[in-house]
Amino acid sequence: MSYQIAIDGPAGAGKSTIAKLVAKEKEFIYVDTGAMYRAMAYYLFSNHIDPKKEALVAEKCMEADITIQYEEGEQVVLLNGKNVNAHLRTEEVGNMASFTSKNPKVRERLTSLQKELASRNNVVMDGRDIGTCVLPKADVKVYLTASPKVRAKRRFDELAAKGETCDIQKIEEDIIKRDEQDMNREIAPLKQAEDAVLIDSSSMTIEEVVKKILSLCR
Ligand code: DC
Repeated sequence: MSYQIAIDGPAGAGKSTIAKLVAKEKEFIYVDTGAMYRAMAYYLFSNHIDPKKEALVAEKCMEADITIQYEEGEQVVLLNGKNVNAHLRTEEVGNMASFTSKNPKVRERLTSLQKELASRNNVVMDGRDIGTCVLPKADVKVYLTASPKVRAKRRFDELAAKGETCDIQKIEEDIIKRDEQDMNREIAPLKQAEDAVLIDSSSMTIEEVVKKILSLCR
């Protein structure tokens, strides 16, 4: 049996930073499921598909073959065989992913790939529905959150470090909108699993959060 650590939480809570460090410490693979939803959104966006046309999104998503592989420990997302990592981290693609991830066909396709990965490997998997839907029997479940203000500030600093100019107010508004979309969709909404441990990282350091999660593992 593989060992599974599920980390869910809203946008910008620091899930990927934390999950990567936990995976490194445990020598597990890190599966960033948000990147898969982003790759699907990128595919639909590049093909000028209107995300509001549900039947069309359902049809087109079948043409997108999304797989992941690892290069020097980093997750590489392949979209129809092509590395699309460089296109995934924009706010535009993130917001689009939040929207297109509501589609049942999109979720079905990506969830089965995620389950399959976790059945073959020890994983730290992060997303919105990992503890509730993808890995309901995960050994450790964490719901990682932080206040919208703190999350917006972290995202602002991240973008500023890359030399990108941005408006912190707008980032906070986008974060609140995405939370609202992710928590209120019909299928697999973002919510804390009953057996998940809640960690509010608003006033915690990265090291403290990692240590806390490691202490939950047997
Ligand atoms: O974690 P992220 O910001 O990269 O995720 C982008 C969007 O993808 C997020 O707003 C909702 C969707 N998503 C999802 O529905 N389920 C997941 N397991 C991961 C992400």
